[in-house]
Amino acid sequence: MNRLEQVREYVNDVLLRVPDPDFRVCGYSHLYGVSLMCVLIANKRGENVELAAIAGMLHDIYTFTAMDSKGHARKGAVMAREILTSMGIFVEDEIEMICGAIHNHGGKESKHSPFDEVLIDADVLQHCFYDPQLGVFEREKERFEALKKEFGL
Ligand SMILES: [Fe+2]
Repeated sequence: MNRLEQVREYVNDVLLRVPDPDFRVCGYSHLYGVSLMCVLIANKRGENVELAAIAGMLHDIYTFTAMDSKGHARKGAVMAREILTSMGIFVEDEIEMICGAIHNHGGKESKHSPFDEVLIDADVLQHCFYDPQLGVFEREKERFEALKKEFGL
């Protein structure tokens, strides 16, 4: 099993334990969707595709473990560090990159490092593409417009 598959196995296990079926479905579609968008954007921008995909899978892990999104970026970064360290298949620099992106992904209004930006933009694309009939969140409009331009949409 490769590293992304191992992380997915862990995340699947967390999601299986989510008691509310609707919230569980939301977890699968959001985490897999963001991970997929991370792969797309990281490929386009020449960022580390594997680590971006893993950051996408883990970025809201706190929310789906605690059923609470308050402070989820900061708390999720701490959780992701524990998870990735305990797996024993990542070096410190990789853990730092993934957890840094998770920590910063709540800050959609400001610019971050190119790797962190992949996760933030992937989060926006998943929200906007999940149901194109629904409107775009006000706070995501600027990023969504920039992404459409970047991808020629
Ligand atoms: Fe998210």
